[in-house]
Amino acid sequence: MELEDLDGVGEAIAEKLKEAGYDNIEAIAAASIGELKDIGLTEAAAQKIVASARQSLQMGFESGLDFLEKRKQVGKLTTGSKELDALFGGGIETQAITELFGKFGSGKTQLGHQLAVNVQLPVEKGGLGGGAVYIDTENTFRPDRIQQMAKAVKLDPNEVLGNIQIARAYNSDHQMLLAEKAAEIVKEKNVKIVVVDSLVAHFRAEYTGRGTLADRQQKLNRHMHVLQRKIADLHNAAVIVTNQVMSRPDILFGDPTSPVGGNIVGHHSTFRVYLRKSKGTKRIAALIDSPNMPEGECVFEVTTDGIKDSKEPKEKAK
Ligand code: GTP
Ligand code: MG
Repeated sequence: MELEDLDGVGEAIAEKLKEAGYDNIEAIAAASIGELKDIGLTEAAAQKIVASARQSLQMGFESGLDFLEKRKQVGKLTTGSKELDALFGGGIETQAITELFGKFGSGKTQLGHQLAVNVQLPVEKGGLGGGAVYIDTENTFRPDRIQQMAKAVKLDPNEVLGNIQIARAYNSDHQMLLAEKAAEIVKEKNVKIVVVDSLVAHFRAEYTGRGTLADRQQKLNRHMHVLQRKIADLHNAAVIVTNQVMSRPDILFGDPTSPVGGNIVGHHSTFRVYLRKSKGTKRIAALIDSPNMPEGECVFEVTTDGIKDSKEPKEKAK
């Protein structure tokens, strides 16, 4: 099926869509009306085109049985720690966004690296038998660390590096563009995980002051929408986003920190995990929000070989 086969798409509009990267029916079906308005379509035209694309892919209502069938496709990816996997109900899920938030040094980037390696393991070893895309906003991607982790799980270090597509995002607009681009790569290269490390750093730096907060949230909303619909849902991939925490001096009891990005990021994340430092190499992970797993905590370690169970796994998190 060609773009021109959709209701409301003639040659000129097809050209406009293609230029903006909407070069297939799936991409249009996953687009929001606002996105298409942004490339110069009228609201009415955008609605007609998106509806037609969704119709042709039979997106819309589906029976509970179809839904169950789609859920059965959900893959689970091992973190390297059985305790941490159990917290997620058996590993990091595809078709979902998992948010890792915590202070500096809590292990967000280490976990991102580990998952980009583990995703390449065969399914029977806890992997998803696919490649990775890594969107790096803080220049903290380390190929030598990937090689080290690859060796530890007995994969060829260079092959593993070869199966990770890395892009450095220079600002929030570039980051959003890279997410769109990632959606294409995911389709072409059997990619099963996309890591965005960090999700909010650029947004936070560029949008300061109250007046711009609404703009920031709107853009973040669109960014998360692309990650969920065009990557996680459409291609049955896992999406990992990392997030810093900011101090909340107004909170007197408990941990006075909360993730940046507020409820927009939280609303779009299926799983939210709070990471914090413990003694030495130990880290504590707390599952904050999940559709079907109880909230809980566990201990894991960041070792030379990567993410591992703590040597005293039965130890209570504190
Ligand atoms: P920010 O991005 O600064 O917010 O922090 P983060 O949460 O991404 O922290 P990151 O994952 O980078 O964790 C850094 C910590 O991981 C270091 O302080 C080390 O404790 C540990 N780490 C990093 N690399 C290695 C390594 O090669 N070997 C070991 N044993 N530990 C490492
Ligand atoms: Mg980091």
